[in-house]
Amino acid sequence: MILKKVDLKPFLETVVEDDRLHVRWLETLSLLENMGARKIHKSMSRFPLHLQRSEVVLQHAAEEARHAFFFKKQIHRLASQEAGSVEDPARENQSPLCQWEGIRYFQSLDGLCKRRSLELLPGNSQLQTLFSYLAVTYVIEERAVDVYGIYEGLLRERDLPIHLSGLLKEEEGHMKEILNMASELPLDFQAELERIAETEGQYFQRFAEKLSQTALTVAVAG
Ligand SMILES: [Fe+2]
Ligand SMILES: [Fe+2]
Repeated sequence: MILKKVDLKPFLETVVEDDRLHVRWLETLSLLENMGARKIHKSMSRFPLHLQRSEVVLQHAAEEARHAFFFKKQIHRLASQEAGSVEDPARENQSPLCQWEGIRYFQSLDGLCKRRSLELLPGNSQLQTLFSYLAVTYVIEERAVDVYGIYEGLLRERDLPIHLSGLLKEEEGHMKEILNMASELPLDFQAELERIAETEGQYFQRFAEKLSQTALTVAVAG
């Protein structure tokens, strides 16, 4: 793990105990996964030619889109496990928890990697796009694997009907593919990741603090 440890466990413990918060957290995850899928599609047309329709990249985009769908579907699974409950239509389209902070986390990281790509690969916009895609995706995957791992542990402890093991495997697979593709770049990718990870830690900390504050406020108000 190259990323700075940010402890999201207390937040996730609050989330799994509070149904309304849990629905909104699933909305946040769905939103971020969907943003990931969209960004991959947008980037790939500007990759070096032989990668523009690459099977590996298409698979990655498709899996991120499926993750967005997966989290959305889990909202119904949460509803159906409540004994004898009739599904509440108010569950649909709840606002994601800390939507703007989540988007800001993603966009800040994107901006950071784009700026770095201009310094590292001047005059080669295709390699710049490839570098940005690989770097942003790698650090986000690593963060996601950490957060989903803790979340999955809490889901199993409480025997909730959401299972993340398949999704976790896919995220880990993406990380391996990214490292493979990065060997095409004329630079020390590992060193660059370590450098980006420093700043990612600050961005994620900011997002995590907002999530924790909001969860407490919502839980207390309930
Ligand atoms: Fe994903
Ligand atoms: Fe992924």
